[in-house]
Amino acid sequence: MKKVIFSGIQPSGDLTLGNYIGALKQFGQFQDEFDCFYCIVDEHAITVPQDRLKLRNQIRSLAALYLAVGLDPEKSTLFIQSEVPAHAQAAWMLQCNVYIGELERMTQFKDKASGKAGVSAGLLTYPPLMAADILLYQTNLVPVGEDQKQHLELTRNLAERFNRKHNDIFTMPDIYIAKYGARVMSLQEPTKKMSKSDSNQKNAIYLLDPSNTITKKIKSAVTDSSGIVKYDKENKPGISNLLAIYSAITGEAILELEEKYEGKGYGAFKSDLAEIVVNELAPIQERYTAYLNSDELDKILDAGAEKARKVASKTLRKMENAMGLGRKRR
Ligand code: AQP
Repeated sequence: MKKVIFSGIQPSGDLTLGNYIGALKQFGQFQDEFDCFYCIVDEHAITVPQDRLKLRNQIRSLAALYLAVGLDPEKSTLFIQSEVPAHAQAAWMLQCNVYIGELERMTQFKDKASGKAGVSAGLLTYPPLMAADILLYQTNLVPVGEDQKQHLELTRNLAERFNRKHNDIFTMPDIYIAKYGARVMSLQEPTKKMSKSDSNQKNAIYLLDPSNTITKKIKSAVTDSSGIVKYDKENKPGISNLLAIYSAITGEAILELEEKYEGKGYGAFKSDLAEIVVNELAPIQERYTAYLNSDELDKILDAGAEKARKVASKTLRKMENAMGLGRKRR
């Protein structure tokens, strides 16, 4: 039997090059070897305020992007989280097995809640929902960016706790992090993660940005005054980030790139990188538009939700039996 992969992306804004390199780009390459479940996690998105109509558009847009980057619906299951109620049901049971202290320690919660009034309880209980997403499919591997490492560790702790306390029902998931580009940084503030919900549009390259915008953003990315193309995350975070992006897209090693651009300065490097990013995204943008305007998209999502419901309900039933919820069922 094939091993299972699960990964999700929030429809919380236009996807960035960070989401692409850290997650999406790798999804297609797994589909022959693994049984893949790719989810649009809209219930995660509402842990912070969202505009209703915008959210609906972003859900469809994200589905079209998944397909545009090469996800084959014949091989992978693509679905929307809220269309599979088992996620919210399992999340509740997991919430009853997690400690508040564990949730308060999550850096994503601390970052997103810091300085804000009216923080939702959902923002705090985001990790058990993420654990439910993963555990419902008896997932073996979770390809994510480095920012999700802490949540994955909590998922594993929760699975182990549940298995020990109630019944041995969950597969222990492993994290899969790309070697380069696992944490793509902001173009203007390279010590901060590139994020789709960043209010400054210049910080991120969006997958649907026009070519001239991409070129402009890369050319005006913050670097340093030395002009030496060298990877040094501590002292040269700007150029190091651009090198990591270059390497993640082309597959060329950072050392090779440093040699290639020795003595050439940042101008030449940035021009080449802009061309590389534009060429990578142009065909994706073309396929995206075709999917977005097709009925096929809804059919794929309907079929995906049906398959996901079938698989998830089996684990959910086991969880309910293990915790003694409802009446005994087969
Ligand atoms: N900057 C990044 N570099 C590498 N990988 C990244 N990911 C996100 N940002 C980067 C990976 O993208 C996948 C989907 O992320 P998500 O939508 O679940 O939420 P996130 O990690 O919180 O991403 P964002 O873009 O920062 O969203 P917002 O702004 O809404 O919080 C994950 O695999 C993530 O690791």
